Amino acid sequence: MSESQLWDDVDDYFTTHLARDDDALEAALRDSDAAGLPRIHVSATQGKLLRLLAEIQGARYILEIGTLGGYSTIWLARALPGDGHLVSLEHSAKHAEVAVRNIARAGLDRQVEVRVGPALESLPKLADENPPPFDLVFIDADKVNNPHYLEWALRLTRTGSLIVLDNVVRGGRVADPAETADDVRGTRAAIEMIGGHPRLSGTAIQTVGSKGYDGFALARVRA
Ligand SMILES: C[S@@+](CC[C@H](N)C(=O)[O-])C[C@H]1O[C@@H](n2cnc3c(N)ncnc32)[C@H](O)[C@@H]1O
Repeated sequence: MSESQLWDDVDDYFTTHLARDDDALEAALRDSDAAGLPRIHVSATQGKLLRLLAEIQGARYILEIGTLGGYSTIWLARALPGDGHLVSLEHSAKHAEVAVRNIARAGLDRQVEVRVGPALESLPKLADENPPPFDLVFIDADKVNNPHYLEWALRLTRTGSLIVLDNVVRGGRVADPAETADDVRGTRAAIEMIGGHPRLSGTAIQTVGSKGYDGFALARVRA
């Protein structure tokens, strides 16, 4: 058996017992496929982790950067209390349209707002509205802008907020000094910013599974 087949099998086992998609999540993936969206959403076990992190955090306000078809959005929004709110930023109008339908089918449209446009344009507009500090920020968009998203996350959060940065391993390229691609440089800059910033305490974890070899970083905002 190949290594990646083994990762898939173990992920299937964990998913079956711990993070099974319900009708709304299954339909979200089916409709995303039907609309031709890329299959770059988080896995079910990762979605469950996001939900658990938001629950542990007691999150009432969540910011997501990178909606795609709303799969991770649904996992996260399910952690919210009745008066909670999630803002998700998505560049592609087509992705956002699919996501809005998927989120409505999951019964979360009252709590979730998808804003269309480049996140670096949506974020200053959001800040101008003086929203309550976000308790959790999930960054999962164009990796080249990761350091900018981290800066914005710091501005829009409070002491104790949690920032999750996805796909930080880039197939191992993140640690290859010869690698200079934009996504890797953006990810490295974000990791190094977490390591050196006086208001951030963080770590990064490598993962294997149905999404191959990757990983995520977690950072807590400090006083
Ligand atoms: C990896 S996917 C997000 C997956 C989603 N979080 C999930 O797990 O279901 C990245 C998304 O970020 C969007 N994106 C890329 N560049 C962006 C930008 N500059 N501003 C906002 N969204 C962007 C892409 O269109 C894509 O839908």
